[in-house]
Amino acid sequence: MIQADHLTKYYGHQAAIQNLSFHVARGEILGLLGPNGAGKTTTMRILTAYMPPSEGTALVNGFDVFHDSLEVRRRIGYLPESAPLYPDMTVSDYLNYVATLRKVNHRPKQVCETLEKVDLGAQRNLLIGKLSKGMRQRLGIAQAIVHDPEVLILDEPTIGLDPRQIMAVRKLIRDLGGKHTVILSTHLLSEVEQICSRVLIINKGQIVAEDTPANLILHLEGGERVRLKTLAAPADAVNTLRSLPEVSQVCQIDADTFELECSLGLDCRLAVAQLVVERGWGLLELRTVSISLEDVFLELTADQQVRQ
Ligand SMILES: Nc1ncnc2c1ncn2[C@@H]1O[C@H](COP(=O)(O)OP(=O)(O)OP(=O)(O)O)[C@@H](O)[C@H]1O
Ligand SMILES: [Mg+2]
Repeated sequence: MIQADHLTKYYGHQAAIQNLSFHVARGEILGLLGPNGAGKTTTMRILTAYMPPSEGTALVNGFDVFHDSLEVRRRIGYLPESAPLYPDMTVSDYLNYVATLRKVNHRPKQVCETLEKVDLGAQRNLLIGKLSKGMRQRLGIAQAIVHDPEVLILDEPTIGLDPRQIMAVRKLIRDLGGKHTVILSTHLLSEVEQICSRVLIINKGQIVAEDTPANLILHLEGGERVRLKTLAAPADAVNTLRSLPEVSQVCQIDADTFELECSLGLDCRLAVAQLVVERGWGLLELRTVSISLEDVFLELTADQQVRQ
């Protein structure tokens, strides 16, 4: 369980995060989403007791990250942005070393099972310096989970992995959720939809949205959207389409394509089709479009909107 209250971090005079409050229950997988520089890594460093907040508090399973930092670290597995790996050690020696520091019981078995989980069994005797980028990332994940921590904090866990490994690591994280508490950051919106039970979108150090992926999409959806491709003169098309009572918004996407938002509760396709025929514009395409989490993300992080 993680409870963050009014977390703020200043680097010099600049606030990297401001007044962040959120809660992650045991078994939940929370996705931290935000553009570059939003404050994801800063938040994670505070939660892992790597550095103190300037203001506010955070509790990990009841322990304060500032006052009980050792207790916090004991309960956490952390995959940092760049995991500190030693190039002259072999994969299994390194993981064994981490497991010793973490006072893991049944060490050889646990090390072996963890290497299998991240698909590094075949590389166990390789020097870390000879691993590929994706293998190094997976070893970073291995060191975060080898002691079976109650809380997992993963900073962009699937970055640099090939598609097959991405799927395997996502499954691993999904399996860990349920029993563990997981926070992960990512730029991959499909990742959030596939594995996170809740999403926190941060922009410029502030929370702009917090909900399940499905609710975020629903919330933004408003009226149904329709894509129209026509040979009409664009200015004429925009003005005429706007005058239809079934249409609430018209946006020109490119020379011959328009995106229309239907008035709430209405399907504007029939009215639009009739208009196009009446005017003799020539209809190339007319279809509804669905909103993705990517649309939600782009809209929420376009300018500074703060959660009320
Ligand atoms: N050590 C530091 N000293 C000064 N400023 C920093 C430091 N670390 C981060 N910052 C600043 O804090 C803000 C948040 O950075 P942070 O690394 O938390 O973002 P992020 O969301 O993890 O971004 P990314 O998606 O690129 O990893 C940025 O403006 C960054 O320049
Ligand atoms: Mg980061």
